[in-house]
Amino acid sequence: VTRSAVTGVGSYLPENIVTNDDLSKFVDTTDEWIVERTGIRQRHKAADDQPTSDLAVQAALRALEAAGRTAADIDLIVVATTTPDMTFPSVASIVQRKLGAPVCNAFDIQAVCSGFVYALSVADGFVARGLARCALVIGAEEMTRLMDWTDRSTCVLFGDGAGAVVLEPVEGQGTPADRGVLGFALRCDGNKTDLLYVDGGPASTGTVGHLRMAGNQVFRHAVVNIAEAVTAACEAANIQISDVDWFVPHQANQRIIKGVGDRLGLDEDKVILTVADHANTSAASIPLALDTAVKDGRIKPGDLVLMEAMGGGLTWGAVALRM
Ligand code: ACO
Repeated sequence: VTRSAVTGVGSYLPENIVTNDDLSKFVDTTDEWIVERTGIRQRHKAADDQPTSDLAVQAALRALEAAGRTAADIDLIVVATTTPDMTFPSVASIVQRKLGAPVCNAFDIQAVCSGFVYALSVADGFVARGLARCALVIGAEEMTRLMDWTDRSTCVLFGDGAGAVVLEPVEGQGTPADRGVLGFALRCDGNKTDLLYVDGGPASTGTVGHLRMAGNQVFRHAVVNIAEAVTAACEAANIQISDVDWFVPHQANQRIIKGVGDRLGLDEDKVILTVADHANTSAASIPLALDTAVKDGRIKPGDLVLMEAMGGGLTWGAVALRM
C-alpha cells in the first residue's frame, strides 16, 4: 500500500513582533483581557514589502532541507492561503518561480483557517495515487492585512506566518502502525458564512475588505463541530482517540482548544499550543505548531498526530497521520 508521509517540516515567522501592549496603544484593549479571553500574548507581522509568497518560500526551504530535498525534486505545490499576494496568479505559482522549481502541478486552496487540513488531504490524494513524488504543502497567511484596526474584537486575534511540509510516498502494510496520512474528515456549512467573513472581494466591492466575526457564535460552533470531525477522522484512520500521541490544533484561541480537548477527554500534555506566541495565523497555524513540536523534540518519527481546524466558510476538519 502506498501512502503519503511527512518527510520534512519547516516554518517561518516575520521578524516584527507586536505585543498586546503594543496594540493597547492604538486600540481600546489590555494585555490582561487578551490573555484571559484568548491566551494570545503576541503576534508576528509581515513587513510592508514582504508578501505572503515570501513567508511561504522561507517555510518551504526549511521543510525541503529537513526532508533532504531540493527545489529540483518538487512536482506538486499546494498552498493553503486566504491572503494571496494578488488575486491571481496563485501563491503556489509565485512560490514555484521563487524556489526555481521545475514546471509542475501548483495551485492554491482556499478554506481559510481549515486550509492546511484541506491542502494536506488533497496533496495526499496525488501522492498516494502515484501522481506526485515530492509534494510541498504550505500554509501561508498575512491575516494582519485583513484587519479593521478600529475593531478591538477581531484585530487582537490574528498574526502572520507560514509553515510547510514535504509529502513523499512510502510503502507499507496499510495498517495504522505504518507511516503516512491515515484518514481525514472535511466539512463545510455555507449557511454560516455570516459568522465569519471578509466584507470585500474582486466580484463584490472591488476592495480587499476587512475580517468580520461573530466571535461568540464561532466559538460555540467550533467546540461542538471540531470534536465531531476529530471522531470521524479517527474512524477513517481506524484508530482510537486514545491512540493519538499528539494533537496539533489550529491555534485560534486557547479556550477553543481547551473546550475541544475537554469534550474529547484529551490529556492536556498531548496538545501542542503556540497561540500565545503566534496568535491565529489561519492556514499557517497547524504547520507552525507542528514544526515547533518537531524542532523541540516532542513529536518524533512514528508518533500518531491528529490535526484539526475550523474557520471561515464555515469550514472545518481533521486529519490523522503517522509521522
Ligand atoms: N479588549 C477589551 N475588550 C474587548 C475586546 C478587546 N480586544 N474585544 C471585545 N471586548 C469586549 C466586548 O466589547 C464586550 O464588551 P461588552 O460586554 O461591554 O459589550 C466584552 O469584551 C465581551 O465580548 P465577547 O465577544 O462576549 O467576549 P468573548 O468572551 O466571546 O471573547 C473572543 C471574544 C475572544 C473573540 C471569543 O469569542 C473567541 O475567541 N471566539 C472565537 C473566534 C475565533 O477565534 N475565530 C478565529 C477564526 S475561526 C477559528 O479559527 C476557529
